[in-house]
Amino acid sequence: MRDGTLLSVDNVSIYFNRNLKVVNSISFDVDKGEIFGVVGESGCGKSVTAAAVMGILPQNAHYEGEIYFEGKRLSALTAEQRRGLRGNRISMIFQEPMTSLNPVLTVGYQIAEVLMAHRGMSKNDAMARAAELLGDVKIPSPALRVRDYPHQMSGGMRQRVMIAMAIACNPALVLADEPTTALDVTIQAQVLRLLRGIQEKFNMSVVLITHDLGLVSENAGRVAIMYAGRIMESADTATLFKHPVHPYTIGLLNSIPKGRHIPLVPIPGFVPRPDSLPEGCKFSDRCGYVEKRCKEAEPALIEIEKGHLNRCILNDKVVS
Ligand SMILES: Nc1ncnc2c1ncn2[C@@H]1O[C@H](COP(=O)(O)OP(=O)(O)OP(=O)(O)O)[C@@H](O)[C@H]1O
Ligand SMILES: [Mg+2]
Repeated sequence: MRDGTLLSVDNVSIYFNRNLKVVNSISFDVDKGEIFGVVGESGCGKSVTAAAVMGILPQNAHYEGEIYFEGKRLSALTAEQRRGLRGNRISMIFQEPMTSLNPVLTVGYQIAEVLMAHRGMSKNDAMARAAELLGDVKIPSPALRVRDYPHQMSGGMRQRVMIAMAIACNPALVLADEPTTALDVTIQAQVLRLLRGIQEKFNMSVVLITHDLGLVSENAGRVAIMYAGRIMESADTATLFKHPVHPYTIGLLNSIPKGRHIPLVPIPGFVPRPDSLPEGCKFSDRCGYVEKRCKEAEPALIEIEKGHLNRCILNDKVVS
């Protein structure tokens, strides 16, 4: 592992029910203090990858390969050591706060619980700190709102509570899984600005999972594009947006609205199910550049220039 690497996902495959492979040999590193974007359409394996890192894969799932965090091989840790990392050194912000917050406990108590569990704080100290954290995430009148139940807050505020909970123990890594998808556009921008501010202040690393390339271009330093459980292309964000080479990436970029008079070009078809993937390149069914050889063997992920990886044998033809 290089110096400065916080998280290393090394050849990880994830399976459900023993042998249904939903993520296929993915590798990426996240450096200390960086925002790393993971982008792809629904079902490509973004959330299960985050769940593997967080150590919360469902009972019927397992991973192969290795995940290293702060130099530790996660598969070598005991269940108790893993619990010690969760919510403490690694935390997660989920898409829909209403399903992750407990409706019968106040938001303050839910933040305080994290501090009592990992920091051994007394209830009074933890509640006082919870109010401070609500202030940090810009919730007005935090000393009062700390006693609110989740349903008394707006969607944007609940997402801020999730962020407060995630940063309560000053984690090294935050896995933000579609952190703003449930919010309307202006609130989305505010919440991301807030997360970004906190990330910079504490030099945290963030894995920003989204299907929105626009969010990634504004916030992430590097990005991996996933499709059908694979990484198709990965580069620093500026390169990926200026010189995308994989037809899937180009398709995603073309489907971002650019202006009123520029037509949106969606990618035709759907993501295939993990149990019915095409032979050869997994994107070949939907690719406008497909050739016979694309169907014969799956292309390898190749470094086409320093730090820029691509999984397409036709990339020289489709450079835009
Ligand atoms: N509990 C489960 N049991 C069986 N298969 C599952 C389970 N959870 C996820 N999967 C499958 O694993 C694959 C990856 O799912 P995942 O939730 O990681 O997708 P995603 O990229 O996060 O999609 P989205 O953008 O919709 O959140 C999908 O094919 C999904 O159907
Ligand atoms: Mg998901």
